[in-house]
Amino acid sequence: MKKLIMLICVLFSGFSVSATQLKPGQQLFESNACNSCHDATARTVGPALSEIAGRYKGKKVVAELAGRIRSGSQGRWGDMPHPANEALTPQEASTLAQWILSRK
Ligand code: HEC
Repeated sequence: MKKLIMLICVLFSGFSVSATQLKPGQQLFESNACNSCHDATARTVGPALSEIAGRYKGKKVVAELAGRIRSGSQGRWGDMPHPANEALTPQEASTLAQWILSRK
């Protein structure tokens, strides 16, 4: 199922990368310094990954979260803003969103 979603995202984007060329979520998370503000289970600067996964459990929010990962967000968890990450491709943001949502 996950692979199918990823494939759909790739097809949708119109880029000719195959799913196997995408970096896995954890690697993207670490290489983009997301872990400087997000811990697996503890709230630090930003919400814990487990909190995010819990809030959106069972909801189809990959595209929504991917959008906020790229353009930033504020006021959903607190006053601290989430920075924009426009250097990420939409596919990378989507991979990150899926990976985070799988972290319970
Ligand atoms: C400078 C600190 C910081 C960095 C770096 C950061 N975040 Fe965040 N993130 C936050 C804060 C603060 C929030 C809560 C924003 C809010 O209340 O709307 C947040 C929220 C989120 C959310 C939840 C959004 C929602 O709609 O509920 C996701 C998903 C997320 N971050 C993913 C990432 C990813 C992926 C990266 C790396 C590309 C990243 N963050 C890097 C601080 C950060």
